[in-house]
Amino acid sequence: MGFEQAWLDYGKKEGYADAERIRYIYADADSAVMKNSVKELRDALAAFTGRDPQVNALSERKEGTGQIESICLVKKEGCRAEGYRLYEEKGGIVVEASDERGILYGVFALIFRMQRQETLAGIDLKKEPAMPLRMVNHWDNMDGSIERGYSGRSFFFENNEILVDERTVTYARLMASVGINGAVINNVNVKDQATYMITEKYFDKLREMSEIFAGYGIRFFMSLNYAAPVELGELDSADPLDEGVAAWWEKRMKIVYDAIPLLGGFLIKADSEGRPGPFTYGRDHADGANMLARAIEPYGGLIIWRCFVYNCRQDWRDRKTDRARSGYDNFMELDGRFRNNVILQIKNGPMDFQVREPVHPLFGGLTKTNQMLEVQIAQEYTGQQRHICYLIPWFKQILEFRTYVKETDDTVRDIVSGKTFGQKNCGMAAVANTGDDENWTGHDLAAANLYGFGRLCYEPELAAQEIAKEWIGLTYGRDQEVEETILFLLMESWPAYEKYTSPLGIGWMVNPSLHYGPSVDGYEYDRWGTYHRADHLGIGVNRSRNGTGYALLYREPHASVYDDMEKCPDELLLFFHHVPYTWKLGSGKTVIQHIYDTHFEGVEMVDEMARRFEELKGKVPEKVYGRVTGRLAHQKEHAREWRDQINTYFYRKSGIPDEKGREIF
Ligand code: GCU
Repeated sequence: MGFEQAWLDYGKKEGYADAERIRYIYADADSAVMKNSVKELRDALAAFTGRDPQVNALSERKEGTGQIESICLVKKEGCRAEGYRLYEEKGGIVVEASDERGILYGVFALIFRMQRQETLAGIDLKKEPAMPLRMVNHWDNMDGSIERGYSGRSFFFENNEILVDERTVTYARLMASVGINGAVINNVNVKDQATYMITEKYFDKLREMSEIFAGYGIRFFMSLNYAAPVELGELDSADPLDEGVAAWWEKRMKIVYDAIPLLGGFLIKADSEGRPGPFTYGRDHADGANMLARAIEPYGGLIIWRCFVYNCRQDWRDRKTDRARSGYDNFMELDGRFRNNVILQIKNGPMDFQVREPVHPLFGGLTKTNQMLEVQIAQEYTGQQRHICYLIPWFKQILEFRTYVKETDDTVRDIVSGKTFGQKNCGMAAVANTGDDENWTGHDLAAANLYGFGRLCYEPELAAQEIAKEWIGLTYGRDQEVEETILFLLMESWPAYEKYTSPLGIGWMVNPSLHYGPSVDGYEYDRWGTYHRADHLGIGVNRSRNGTGYALLYREPHASVYDDMEKCPDELLLFFHHVPYTWKLGSGKTVIQHIYDTHFEGVEMVDEMARRFEELKGKVPEKVYGRVTGRLAHQKEHAREWRDQINTYFYRKSGIPDEKGREIF
């Protein structure tokens, strides 16, 4: 399928004198990244002005006459790794960095300023990435399908073959432009043909792809099947403490790294949702991760090991087992046992990417282990890219959460930026929302999450509004009304989605397996550990000290706050407590009235979003207008379905009417 350029669609900028005056680029294009930096700059300038700038070696740089007429790319010590400076000097703009990734990021930052037609005179700024690892995780399967993919099929795989083409390059440019420096290309559920990605069969294409990625500063990663030695038919065990198994991996890793020297390492989902792992052999996850980490250590490789490990064969009658506890219970006791090239990748919450969850208690629990935060921009539980749900405000809240693991520098952001424990192997990963749809993300506005995720990892201090404005300006230009309207839609979207779906932190209530659309009891009598426990008197899961005790896994003051119904924040009340429908929230409303009110409000918010967007007819490209209005029409309908099912369910359960007498069925 053809594809668009998303926020890299550089167009002609009539009358933008700052770009028109630039005639020269001075740079030493002595590596792939430097060549790509120069190419990107040249292409952008050519698009902005309709004229090719001249590219010369740095040694030929001439002092200008005062007005800015050149751009120089200079490698020089001064910034931290992957940081850059932009400043004006002697009639030119200098992009300065101590490494080439920094140059590339500086080049994109400069292009983005020009794309938004900002003035370049007097520019003087320095940026350094907060998080060392800024990664996307693709859940693409080798047959071309995408697990939880909502924007078409894979552009990495088709029919068990690996695709390397023009789209691979544009993908890498898009990622690099927002500072992404690592990508895992295949699904964490490694099955069937994907197990063979570490065999000769796929090496050529994988190497080719890794080289393209490297040209844009992106480290290439794969997901790995823990039981590969068995499933490839070579051994009858994958026991991490068996010397034969360790030797098999050492040999295999040598072969893999000889063929794909740029490989960054592997992401592993083990002992989770049917995937194999060390538990089969009575070993723990430190045994498993360390065995693999030893095997790739000689090549500087990383093992990124996921903490999404829980019992997915629970009995709904059992009120003691708590899925929310499982990540903590499985990994806390291993703190300090992982090798230095192992990173634990922890989902933002203890359940599974719900519209609202508490922050995962492993953040603030672990003190001696490399940690990475995993979020999901594939909108599995947040509207599947048919509803608008701009997730950056939510991620900001997660990042700013104080863990109290120390007196200062203790937020999740500090931990994954390496500030709290001085770690280098840390950062953030997002389950990607891309596919082979023309616009990459299905919903045009979902691209704001892809853009925003990268920007947030690099500069987490940016406000969600700022990031949204940047993206709107790059994608849709400088029209004030367009900016205001799209900003309104984005900023309303997560609060609206939370209001018309599952209330007060309880989550789920979706159709099983699809995870789309309301089904209050969809998971209530199932094996997945995801219950709301509603009866005619009340609703919620008791995770306090008299319940599953989950609330006590946090450090103080969180533990006491979450444990206490009176103090627990409203938005998480039903996650932590079972309360009567008549319970008074902090807001002063009863739980049941809150449910009714928010569901009516959420739908009104979507109506207003759709109404405002209609005013943009003729102001955004027609294609975009058509795609977005089509999806908004569905979102309006679907939000009503959510509202009516949830309100009706709780009205019938509780028998308590809406104070305002609105229609409930
Ligand atoms: C969710 C999702 C699965 C995915 C899993 C994971 O449960 O529904 O499709 O495999 O998360 O993160 O591993």
